[in-house]
Amino acid sequence: MRVFDQKKGLISFLSVCRAENQTIGLVPTMGALHQGHLSLVKTALGQNDVVVVSIFVNPTQFDKKDDLEKYPRNMDADISLLNEVSENIVVFTPTESEIYDGKIVSESYEFGGLDKVMEGKFREGHFDGVGTIVELLLRTVSPDRAYFGEKDFQQLQIIKKMAQMKNLPYEIIPCSIERESHGLAMSSRNERLSEKVRNEASFIYKTLLTAKSKFGIESTIYISEWVKSQFEKNEQLELEYFEIMEEETLTPISKRQQNKKYRAFIAVYAEGVRLIDNLRLN
Ligand code: PAJ
Repeated sequence: MRVFDQKKGLISFLSVCRAENQTIGLVPTMGALHQGHLSLVKTALGQNDVVVVSIFVNPTQFDKKDDLEKYPRNMDADISLLNEVSENIVVFTPTESEIYDGKIVSESYEFGGLDKVMEGKFREGHFDGVGTIVELLLRTVSPDRAYFGEKDFQQLQIIKKMAQMKNLPYEIIPCSIERESHGLAMSSRNERLSEKVRNEASFIYKTLLTAKSKFGIESTIYISEWVKSQFEKNEQLELEYFEIMEEETLTPISKRQQNKKYRAFIAVYAEGVRLIDNLRLN
């Protein structure tokens, strides 16, 4: 397994791979790797000769300094985890100044409204930061395919939009959500939860499943109110938002249409840690 912390070394290594007609997959991450990340890496390994996994905690996508500081960092553990998966993995671990060339600022994107709801509404500047780092990584690696989890479904749609707007010729591949055995979506942030609350947080997924069973029977307003009332009764978990949206445009459902796909999205605070999840409803 190769590890590069500079763009130059990575680019010249990949140019040799490309000259040998090897295909390249990219899996961008912020580290503190878990099985959710590894499922993306394994999918990428199945479809490409070489897989670049970037590990970089991107400062421009954090709206709260405290969240950035508390973000878990385990570089050694991450590298040994990847080493166990395959020797065809190339790890890219740039520093802030290496990746941003000294200017740690976001570009401003026009995401056609995709960034105005949910995560975009509650985390100012977040998606400009995500767009900036993902564009930088895509242009540096020039992969055949890049892999993103549906765990961050809004992020996935925004990255697809960015790639389309900027005419980036890289295939964006969505990957399904990996969950802990009791249902909580895997996340690097789960490590910050006490064991008790981590178990209790399976309530988020259970609530999404019940919302799904009500979809098509009850109105959206009824379902949203029901979800709110469930969280009001829960002393450990505080609901930030629950939304039912059309998948492609991320607009609220008005009248349900047969040919459209709908998804429920949720953000919850547990012990000061922000957790997000989503579930396809139809
Ligand atoms: P991070 O949270 O580390 O996630 C990296 C990738 O793993 C993302 O595409 C995310 O959706 C996916 N992922 C995380 N948990 C998952 C799970 N339980 N199941 C499936 N996929 C999961 O998302 C980011 O980093 C950053 O915003 C990044 C895209 C790297 C830009 O900085």
